[in-house]
Formats: sequence, C-alpha cells, structure tokens
Amino acid sequence: VPTIPLSAHRSRGAAILAVGALTAGPLVGCSSAPATEPGTATVTTTTTVPATTTTVPAAIDTIDVERYDLDLVYSVADRLLAGTASLEVIVTDAAAPLTLQLRGPRATAVRVDGAQAQFRQSAGDLVITPAGTVTDGTHLAVQVDYEGTMGTPKDANGTAYGWIATPDGAQVLSQPDGAPTWYPVHDTLTDKASYDIHVSVPQGLTAVANGELTGEKDSGGRTTWSWHAAEPMTAYLATVSIGDYTLTTQTGPGGLPILNAVDRDLDAQTASDITAALELQPTILDFLVRTWGPYPFSTSGAIVDDDRLDYALETQTRPIYASYLDDSTLTHELAHQWFGDSVGIATWQDIWLNEGFATYSEWLWSAEQSWGQSVQASAEDAAARPADDPFWAVTIAAPTRAQLFDRAVYERGALTLHALRELIGDDAFWAVARAWASSNAGGTVTTAEFEGLATQESGTDLTAFFRTWIHSAGKPDLAAGH
Ligand code: TRP
Ligand code: ZN
Repeated sequence: VPTIPLSAHRSRGAAILAVGALTAGPLVGCSSAPATEPGTATVTTTTTVPATTTTVPAAIDTIDVERYDLDLVYSVADRLLAGTASLEVIVTDAAAPLTLQLRGPRATAVRVDGAQAQFRQSAGDLVITPAGTVTDGTHLAVQVDYEGTMGTPKDANGTAYGWIATPDGAQVLSQPDGAPTWYPVHDTLTDKASYDIHVSVPQGLTAVANGELTGEKDSGGRTTWSWHAAEPMTAYLATVSIGDYTLTTQTGPGGLPILNAVDRDLDAQTASDITAALELQPTILDFLVRTWGPYPFSTSGAIVDDDRLDYALETQTRPIYASYLDDSTLTHELAHQWFGDSVGIATWQDIWLNEGFATYSEWLWSAEQSWGQSVQASAEDAAARPADDPFWAVTIAAPTRAQLFDRAVYERGALTLHALRELIGDDAFWAVARAWASSNAGGTVTTAEFEGLATQESGTDLTAFFRTWIHSAGKPDLAAGH
C-alpha cells in the first residue's frame, strides 16, 4: 500500500499560506503517523464550505434538540450506512422552517409525532414540514430514515473528517462541521443534547461511541453495540468508531470508569507504545482534576485505530487518537474534556479558548515531569519566533475558516493564558480558571465572557491586554508583560 502525503499536512500548509507563512506544521494534539491510501473510495462526500469563509456557517437557532437516538446499521464491505435518527425537538421559532443538516446521506422518510411529514433535502439542509400546527415551545418527535454510501469527506481545508470509511470499519470525528455527514443534526455549537447511539456491525467488529456502553447484542451474524452519552454534547464531538478493537478498562480519579478501544491490527511496536501511553491516563486525569477541578463527565477513555488518521480529536468522553500517541497528546485531548467539551464555545471564533487551555495543560503537565521543562520555558519557546514569523500574523480571536487549526490558535492561545497569569498573579489566574470551568460546565461560552470573568476576578482593566493578545495580530511586546 503506497504511503501518500497526509491530507491534513497539505491543509495545514494551505492554511498557513493563507497567512503568508513559510513553515507549516501543527500542533500539539496532532501526530505524524503515516497514512495509507484509503482503499478505492469512489463515493466521496464533500463539504462545500469555502476555506475563505470567515466563520463556519452555523444553523439558525430556531430549534433546540434535547436528545438524539441514532439507530445505525453499517455494512463495512460496501460502506453502506442505513440509519434512523429519532430527535426530541423543541421549536423555539415556529415562524422558521424546521431545518436539520444532512449532507451526503439521503433522507428517505421523515415522521413527526409518528405521522409522515413532507421534507426536502438540498445543499446540506433537510427542511421538514410537520403536518400539525407548531407554535413556539412545541415539542416534536422527529424521526428521519436515511442511507448513504460513505467515503472520505473533507473539511474546508481538505482534511478528512466526518464519517471516514476505513477498510475494517469507520472513524468519526467531525470538527468543525462534519456531523451532518453521518446523521441529521442541528449542527450548531450552542445546541447540546444527550445521545443514545446503537450501531449494528458484522459480528467480530466493535463499534465504540461516546459515553457508557449499555448493550452488546448478537443476532444473525451481526452485533449491535449501544452507547449512552447522558451529559449534553455538541454535534461535532459525537463519534462512532468501528474496527477490530480490544476494549480495556482502567479506573481514574474518584473511581472514574475509563474504557479504551485499541485496534488489534496495530504493529507490535506501535501497540506497545500505545499501551505504555495509555497506562498514564489515570495519572494524567488526576493531574487535570488537580489543575482545573472535577472531571466533567461520568466516563472517559480513548479510541486508537490503525487506519490513516493523522490528527486527534477531543470527542466527548472518549477522544480519538492517531496511532501515534504520547502523554502530551493525551493531556491535550483530556484537557479538552474541560475546555471545549464541557465548557463549549458558542462560535468557532472562540476556538482559541479550547486550544489555548489544552496547550497550556500540556505545558503544565510537562513542568511536573522529570524530563519536562518549566511552563516559563515552554512559553519562551513559543515566543522565541521572530516578529516577522507568520506565526504572529494570526488574530486568534478572529480566525478565518482556514486558520481554525493554525499553530497560533494553540500556542498564542496558551501564551495569552500565561501572560494573563503573569499580569494578574497566580491567585487571580487560578480563580479565573477554576470559575471558568465550574460555572460554565455543560454550557457554551464566548471570548467576551472570558474577558469579563478575568476582569472581574482580577479587578484589573484588561482591555489593552486582550486587544494586544487576542484581538490583534503581531508579536506582543513580551518585555512589557502584555
Ligand atoms: N482540534 C483538534 C485537537 O486539537 C485537532 C484538529 C481537528 C485538527 N481538526 C483538524 C488539526 C484539522 C489539523 C487539521 O486535538
Ligand atoms: Zn486541541
């Protein structure tokens, strides 16, 4: 099987060209695992979001989905996904058409409160016309039957995302707008919901999703795996991974159940590296709990597949990792459980809050290790780039669609937190961080709210600080402290 250039590397190159950089390469949280050609996918679902769009288009907030129940049947050999999605919907603006996103798979029937409903699907939207009267506050049971041949969808930068068909199953990671490639969804950051996900796969394969395993049932040569994610979850953080997995368990801080799915087909060296890394999970979780406060969910774990994934994602409760895994990456994705997952962002412009806290967590973890370096040294490394380095050309609180995963979002984000800590002092900084995590748990936040909390907790006017660090490009005058 020929090795091909990693699509994400190409995309990062492209992303960085967009800001004039000459050096590519992310980020913590991403690996350089070799990729292999994804078989012969002839059907490819592609997104139509242009890379130059400032923001990822969000669905209009006219409904509030409380719960998704996804019944999926996947045929690995022909990459056929057949699903029934049952949604509990509250209408918040009855004047607007009832609209979900579904891009790629085709809806074949829609029922609202049990009655057949008219629908049309175009440009990634599924617009439903309920037969009965709908007013603001009406609760609707919306059921969508759908099916599609799955391929390798690409995000606006060309990175594989969404439901990615693999030779022995699938990997699903949908940041930023890949969720509609596999289920009908209200794909907007501010609408969190609970999920039940049932996946029927050929017997012998394992289907892993978010939350707790609630059932495993064999019938007619197939196994149905059932998962329950009780805590509110944003669409892009939902996952299903199908493969030759071995499930293992660990126990985290306070008895937290940890469930890992690791591919049996990994080569021996990679498998032993991954086992060694995963052994650190309880320790890392304990470190994060001590640093940021209580773990926000009822379960944790990891998904590691052998198929051509070249970045990790903080899928809720159970991050997906590339087959290269180390303690920094684990720390990064697990820190996202607090920042990104529990404390969600309201718009993609706020992504520096996710990546800044996750990267800062890596710096803090490193500082505790015998092999590691101090947080100050990590900050100095990041800041050592000369002022004309394209790294400094990104305004991190206003990334374009193509800049969402630029290094600056991660490292300038972490530097901002470090500079804030130096400016307001440890006591105020940790008060801000802990209040941020606890008071916004399960919700969504904006950059303005973070600025407000930091200002309030420190009793300092931080207008100039935030203007310099997050609302402007250019290298800040580090000697000045802000
Ligand atoms: N946000 C992910 C993380 O920090 C990484 C990620 C998601 C990514 N999509 C990407 C990186 C596309 C590069 C390209 O763990
Ligand atoms: Zn991240």
